[in-house]
Amino acid sequence: MPSTVPESKLIFVLDGEPAVRPSTSAGYVPMTDPARADRIRQWHEQAYAHGKAEGRAEQTFSYLGTSLVVPTEVMPITAVSHLLGEAVLAEVRDGDRVLDMGTGCGVNAILAATTAREVVAVDINPLAVEAARRNAERNGLLDRIDVRESDVFSNVDGVFDLIVFDPPFRWFAPRDRFEVAMTDENYAAMTRFFRGARRHLTPGGRLLIFFGTSGDLDYLQQLAAEESFASEVLAQRDLEKDGWRVDYYTFRMAPTS
Ligand SMILES: C[S@@+](CC[C@H](N)C(=O)[O-])C[C@H]1O[C@@H](n2cnc3c(N)ncnc32)[C@H](O)[C@@H]1O
Repeated sequence: MPSTVPESKLIFVLDGEPAVRPSTSAGYVPMTDPARADRIRQWHEQAYAHGKAEGRAEQTFSYLGTSLVVPTEVMPITAVSHLLGEAVLAEVRDGDRVLDMGTGCGVNAILAATTAREVVAVDINPLAVEAARRNAERNGLLDRIDVRESDVFSNVDGVFDLIVFDPPFRWFAPRDRFEVAMTDENYAAMTRFFRGARRHLTPGGRLLIFFGTSGDLDYLQQLAAEESFASEVLAQRDLEKDGWRVDYYTFRMAPTS
């Protein structure tokens, strides 16, 4: 590291090139490899256009034993949703209190509620909150799921044995409510989530986090490390589109101290 680099800066290696960016306490700075950032931007535009076209009408899914109706402007079930959904089914224990952060159509809250004592499901998008409530009712689990509007932890009380989060992967500014499911400007919400997660966990509590390399995975891992979460990969899959490979991961994270 050159002696002129202040202590507040950390060194990362992205695609083999060393890059310098500020620590997350000073705010998010995107990866400095412009080619990779451009590729993610292109990927995002395609995913957004595809999602908007598919979501022009309400969609219905039979998924891991549930029946889900997803209105427009709410994240649908995707080809990789099961990487998190199956982990939720395997991870939830009898008696658990579970938080589903960014619940979308309620999918992971509903899967958790098949075992958990109590589930709180929150989202910033009021259309998602409404869809999650209806899907909880449709699957006969509304008595165990408390669905609320919340900006990250702003309307969340108490502690949880398990917190599930499939955050927006990109760091750009969203243009509409649907895009809020895909992009979180400068990772403000994801950063607040990691800064606050520990305070909402029981002793022995854990996180299930879903993320992909079409976002800044290094940043997510840095946040987890800064908050002293140990991380293990529970599921992984790659998808290739237009000659570009994206890897998706489900992580289990637990506080180390
Ligand atoms: C990738 S989607 C995941 C939806 C759902 N959990 C699933 O697995 O299909 C991310 C979700 O996070 C929600 N979200 C984005 N920013 C949020 C915030 N600040 N607070 C709470 N939820 C937020 C979005 O509205 C969206 O429903």
